Amino acid sequence: MTGEMMVLPDIQPNLLQISRNTKLSPPPPSKSLVFGHTFTDHMLTVPWSSISGWSAPQIEPYGPLRLEPSSTVLHYAQTIFEGMKAYRDDNGKVTLFRPGMNMNRMNSSATRVALPNFNGDALLELIKELIRIDKHWIPKEPGHSLYVRPTLIGTQKAVGISPPNEALLFVICSPVGPYYPNGFKPIALYGTTEYVRAAPGGTGAYKIGANYAPGVLPQKFAAHKGYQQNLWLHGPEHYLTEVGTMNMFVVFKKEDGSLELVTPPLDGMILPGITRDSVLDLAREHVSGKKKLANLSDKLTVSERPVTMSEVKSASLSGSLVELFGSGTAAVISPVDRIGYLGEDILIPTEEDGMGPVSRPIWKELVGRQMGTIESDWSVPVTQ
Ligand code: COI
Repeated sequence: MTGEMMVLPDIQPNLLQISRNTKLSPPPPSKSLVFGHTFTDHMLTVPWSSISGWSAPQIEPYGPLRLEPSSTVLHYAQTIFEGMKAYRDDNGKVTLFRPGMNMNRMNSSATRVALPNFNGDALLELIKELIRIDKHWIPKEPGHSLYVRPTLIGTQKAVGISPPNEALLFVICSPVGPYYPNGFKPIALYGTTEYVRAAPGGTGAYKIGANYAPGVLPQKFAAHKGYQQNLWLHGPEHYLTEVGTMNMFVVFKKEDGSLELVTPPLDGMILPGITRDSVLDLAREHVSGKKKLANLSDKLTVSERPVTMSEVKSASLSGSLVELFGSGTAAVISPVDRIGYLGEDILIPTEEDGMGPVSRPIWKELVGRQMGTIESDWSVPVTQ
């Protein structure tokens, strides 16, 4: 090649090789599912190298990967992942929820840790094929789904730190039940001042493995003090950022009696959650009149702005704190009823079913769109 950059092959669905699992497992009863503990019969793998680009994708039996102990992922956490859900309706039709957003975010995470990029539409086509092969694993009961976990790891056989010259993209699938099988149970949060999840210029806005392992010890610490999750705070002002592995929302009642739904802005420390984006979209569609949600106040404003603990604390004391909840793919909406903060508990109202007046109508519309009982272009067909 003279002076031209060689263009390496992208992911090519037309080169897919399928080797079927000859020892199929029976999917377990839905009631016995524990989140992320059971995997389907097949997985997708797509190797990459800096010399030959993306090689032929394979769907093969789910099983152990062969990695050299020197693989960079095992030393420097060169790993990123996504979480997305596929649903199966009563007629057997399978859909994915807003999967294009996962593909875009995965590429953005890959860039942040110097892993290779890829054509998101091509990967999505392969993920759909994997889901079609294992579709009998998708539980049909309400609130159940197939949790799809695309992952990309650096596999260069070297302990030097650099962009890896080899990588492996793989996708595994796990049938899951509702996060709260017996209805919503509000959780208590520990307002963490001892540890940070993310900092300006760091990696909080990306779904990289390295963001998650350091949260496990603080979670144990919070549990030890009697709280289920950490409320991650930032800076001396104690800005609220995220809840455990979820984005967060808070609802205030303003002086004129109207409501404000607030979530922290995407300032580089906040994961651009797909559930976060969906909650904001639904609330804004309600406010604009594009799609009114039943039982949601019309006197609502939607804000992406910083919130401090002192704002939450004084709202709780004055009775203007309406609700606070986490949002994520796994739990969808997770109401909060208490925050332990600097030695005292801040109480947050919840209604009888555990939810609040803003989260309930939004949750109803969201799960309807996810399950396909409410039609929308967020639900993407996998089978016809
Ligand atoms: C979520 O969907 O809330 C997550 O990020 C969960 C995952 C890390 C298990």
